[in-house]
Amino acid sequence: MLKLYRNIDIALTLKKANKKSGRHIQEQDLSPLKNAAMIVSKNKIVWIGKEKTLSPQLFKKLDLPIKKIKEIDLGGHQIMPSFIESHTHSVFAGDRQNEFELRNQGVTYQQIAQQGGGIKSTVKQTRKASSSKLSESLQKRVQFFLDQGVSLLEIKSGYGLNLKTEMKMLEVIKSNKSINTVATFLGPHACPNDYKNYDDYMESVLNHMLPKLIQKGLIDRADVFLEKGYFSAEQVCKYFEYLSNEQIPLTSHVDQLTNSRAIKKLCHFNRLQSLDHLVCIDSSGIKTLAACDTTAVLLPVADFYLKMKYPPARKMLDAGVRVALATDFNPGSSPSQDLSFVGVLARLNMQMTLPEVLVAYTLNAAHAIGFGDRLGSLTEGKDAHFVVLDDDYDKLFYSVGYHPVKKVYFGRL
Ligand code: NIG
Ligand code: FE
Repeated sequence: MLKLYRNIDIALTLKKANKKSGRHIQEQDLSPLKNAAMIVSKNKIVWIGKEKTLSPQLFKKLDLPIKKIKEIDLGGHQIMPSFIESHTHSVFAGDRQNEFELRNQGVTYQQIAQQGGGIKSTVKQTRKASSSKLSESLQKRVQFFLDQGVSLLEIKSGYGLNLKTEMKMLEVIKSNKSINTVATFLGPHACPNDYKNYDDYMESVLNHMLPKLIQKGLIDRADVFLEKGYFSAEQVCKYFEYLSNEQIPLTSHVDQLTNSRAIKKLCHFNRLQSLDHLVCIDSSGIKTLAACDTTAVLLPVADFYLKMKYPPARKMLDAGVRVALATDFNPGSSPSQDLSFVGVLARLNMQMTLPEVLVAYTLNAAHAIGFGDRLGSLTEGKDAHFVVLDDDYDKLFYSVGYHPVKKVYFGRL
């Protein structure tokens, strides 16, 4: 299929941001192209430039049959790369509004977890739920992301904590065909009650769960909750060694509630795609991250709901860390799917500039989940995943709940 998208007021291509691999972003790195057109063949961008430079010679040079082209008039709107949600827990049953009420009365997230609530209460409900119920609720959430211009959605398991329900969750993720998904295994999210301790449960993850789930092809990448009272750095390294041998990309929830001093150890794994949360990261962690290819995924809505401080985004950005943003959508710490809320918090409370937020939610989010070479900029050779905006791009991430997205275009990855 050959398509020509034309009559584009501005194409925000992110060409320079792409060249800089999403680091040290300045306004000019958004690389806006005025009065643009874009040629797409088999879902790949083969040409993007000024509409007035389109000519039969150009088609000849590109070796494209001009007669077969389908023309799509974008009505003088602005376009930009579609959004990428790189950290969500979108498959779950039930809700935790009661805990929200408790937290507002002064009970902490950790205290709720110690009393059997928190992650474990969602595990209880998710174990009971049928695949079709989970698929149905996931589809509604997927639609919510699609309406905001998301074309690729990362979704974690982690509310099963046993083989049967972890498998059920991953199958539900893989069976959703209305958006592109990345299925992240999060078996080590917490220790279920029927295990002596975290070591014991990790043994079962390694010896019992992972072999079966990998064999079934259900795991695109793997995550873990490294935190005081949850999994230790030693346990995480053992988990990462196993997964590295299986060539599975890695990520970790880390430095969310306390500082782990583990960033250096984790960055030794060259399949480490991202480290997420990083509220309590220290300067040595920032230095390590700036020097490796791992993306920092910051999740300010969780910090907002947990009344935490926010991660030192400005320090990370200035040090040259590649920073992405995501919702962390889940029923406990971050019960919101709203991308505009994430961006507004990043600008208000993390001193991120609008260009940094735009790159964080497109190119850098693509890097965070292993698609940096295919998505996140409107440049030749990349997949044509883009949004047509209903307003100027500088109105994005300004008004919470405002999503001026007319249409999202994307193909299968
Ligand atoms: O990213 N920190 C661990 N996991 C989730 C919370 C999950 C939950 O509370 O259900 C997070 O914040
Ligand atoms: Fe999370």
